[in-house]
Amino acid sequence: MASTATKRSGAEWAHGTYEAMAPVYDDFTAHHEYDLWIPDLLKLLERHGLRGKRLLDVGCGTGKSFLEMLPRGWEVTACDISPAMIERARAKVGDRVEFAVADMLDLPRFGKFDLVWALDDAVNYLLSPAELAQALAGMHANLAPTGLLLFDVNELLAYRTFFSGTEVIERGGRRLVWRGLEQADVAPGSICESRLEVLSEGGDRKGEAPTLTHRQRHFTEDEVREALAKAGLECLDVYGHGLDGIPRRPLDTETHTKAIYIAGPAAG
Ligand SMILES: C[S@@+](CC[C@H](N)C(=O)[O-])C[C@H]1O[C@@H](n2cnc3c(N)ncnc32)[C@H](O)[C@@H]1O
Repeated sequence: MASTATKRSGAEWAHGTYEAMAPVYDDFTAHHEYDLWIPDLLKLLERHGLRGKRLLDVGCGTGKSFLEMLPRGWEVTACDISPAMIERARAKVGDRVEFAVADMLDLPRFGKFDLVWALDDAVNYLLSPAELAQALAGMHANLAPTGLLLFDVNELLAYRTFFSGTEVIERGGRRLVWRGLEQADVAPGSICESRLEVLSEGGDRKGEAPTLTHRQRHFTEDEVREALAKAGLECLDVYGHGLDGIPRRPLDTETHTKAIYIAGPAAG
């Protein structure tokens, strides 16, 4: 799919995609079990001395990635490039969370956070290792000296399966048809595309959301480690998981659809 590439940055692509997807995002991801995933991620962070309760959620979407943190007493600042996604998140929590529309490629300094995270492949919308390093540097600038950074990236297996197949979800009176445009032999570092069609339950075009394109880049472990180092961060741990969402070490690119990276400010 890289042959259709334009000069648009990942941020421009993501903005267009998520402005259109906001009305159906929660239906499309209703089966994602954040009530199980988030406690598992917190356990990994605790092994690295997680302390304090200030969270910056980068690419927060409709809020799924921070909702589990509020009952745990965390103070949350959340940002996303899509105002429509933020509005949906705000409707869930009002002023209990501080929101900002922000591009992770140009992240403001919101403060010094004990934890900065970007969940559910938000960083795969960055389309080059240089963009990844730039975003990570912005996240680093928002970390307290003892703070931790966590993000997940889609592994090659996700592009060889989910981005290469068709899935249909019927929910909320709509039929959501995900059509992966890739092949089962996607190469490492590829830019991959998928289309999402929003139809009525009967299969007619709904009109409220057009067919929208997801455009993501696969990042190899070497590329992620190099981007972390360029951003002044030390990679502390790497886990992987499959569709069961249970993090395991070591990352196994044959069976894991996601990798999870934990990092902190590099010493010196
Ligand atoms: C798959 S959604 C995940 C949302 C949320 N983190 C969650 O776990 O439900 C990816 C999110 O990343 C956001 N995003 C992608 N590129 C971005 C960028 N350059 N800056 C800020 N947000 C971005 C999208 O708008 C979208 O809301």
